[in-house]
Amino acid sequence: MQKEEQIRCMKLLMQRLDEGSNVDAGGMVRNPVSAYTSEDRAAREWQMMFQEYPQVMGLTGDLPKPGSFITSSDLGKPILMTRDQDGVFHAFLNVCSHRGTIVESEPRGEKNLFSCPFHAWGYSPRGELVSVPREAQFGPVDKSCNGLVELSAEEKHGLLWVHPKPGTKFNLNNLLGDLGDELESWNYGQLAFGAMETYQTPMNWKLAIDTFGETYHFNVLHKNTLANDIYGNVQCYDTYKNNHRMMLCAKAIDNFRDRPESEWDILKATVPVYYLFPNIQLIPNGRDESVPRDGLAGATLVRVYPSKSNPHQSFSQISFYTNPNIDTALRAQMSERLTGFSEIIRDEDYVAAAASHQGAVSGARDHFIFGRNEPALHHYHNTYNRVLGLDALEVISN
Ligand code: FES
Ligand SMILES: [Fe+2]
Repeated sequence: MQKEEQIRCMKLLMQRLDEGSNVDAGGMVRNPVSAYTSEDRAAREWQMMFQEYPQVMGLTGDLPKPGSFITSSDLGKPILMTRDQDGVFHAFLNVCSHRGTIVESEPRGEKNLFSCPFHAWGYSPRGELVSVPREAQFGPVDKSCNGLVELSAEEKHGLLWVHPKPGTKFNLNNLLGDLGDELESWNYGQLAFGAMETYQTPMNWKLAIDTFGETYHFNVLHKNTLANDIYGNVQCYDTYKNNHRMMLCAKAIDNFRDRPESEWDILKATVPVYYLFPNIQLIPNGRDESVPRDGLAGATLVRVYPSKSNPHQSFSQISFYTNPNIDTALRAQMSERLTGFSEIIRDEDYVAAAASHQGAVSGARDHFIFGRNEPALHHYHNTYNRVLGLDALEVISN
């Protein structure tokens, strides 16, 4: 993140703290509860946002070396992602060309040959079919056209992107706009995978996303946890096409008021939260003196998915990453902090959001209200509506 932008955001947060003000969306809006409960809408979201839109599947550190692989069924189809011997990232449908069995069932690991568990056809990390046992009895197989079905995949800004629909290309510059350079500046690519938690949640996936979209709830829901270190109801907010950046205001920002701007450190004074349409929250975490300039101590990646087209069930994959160049004690401390953060999401945010889902299906209200101080919620839902060809949220006139 550019130093000038860091200073601008920190000054704005200090000003808002001093004034007792917050970012202002310019009005309140209503969101119909059917956005969370409609089966028809859920089916369209699943298709348009999760089957026909490029997805962030992890960070570079999920595939640390040539031969590394990860698998996923988050998008309702088996996907195998690999790093080949030249270090190039690939994604495939994890489906054997012989009789369709899932080729690799481990969640992650390292292999130079993927051997199908049914009859042992073997595939390289480039997806080539390289071996067919007993081919003399089976019959000749043209290996050049029986490899794994490849998906468009790109590793950029330290993130792993995959288009789940075979044969569909995508252009990240168009999707990210100016946000690309800023993502690049954090060097996410240098982080090593730490751990991943899966949280099954009895609620619409967008309610999980909504919990990340405002700090209005911090002094209430997180009064004994996050609110110890972060000011509630004060933030910076900027949008980049379908994506956004929120800057939460750490209480440590006050330590910088009397220090020269050259010493201001955005990762100590704030918590940046990047939202990447449709389902990603990416949070860079604290720099440490032992980390090279502009390096991160760690990051958290939250991927939220509907359970296919069921509007009432979703799950989150929460992964954390740490910088392998920081000392062991700090890395352990970082891992503990990031695990604690996931638990807050699970035990506080998602509990409240699942209760909102019960409220949505109860029939008590036909809409929810998003305040002026919750601009991310306006932006999320207006974006979803636009992608689905629906009207923008209704502005509540005073
Ligand atoms: S189904 Fe894979 S080798 Fe037969
Ligand atoms: Fe929260």
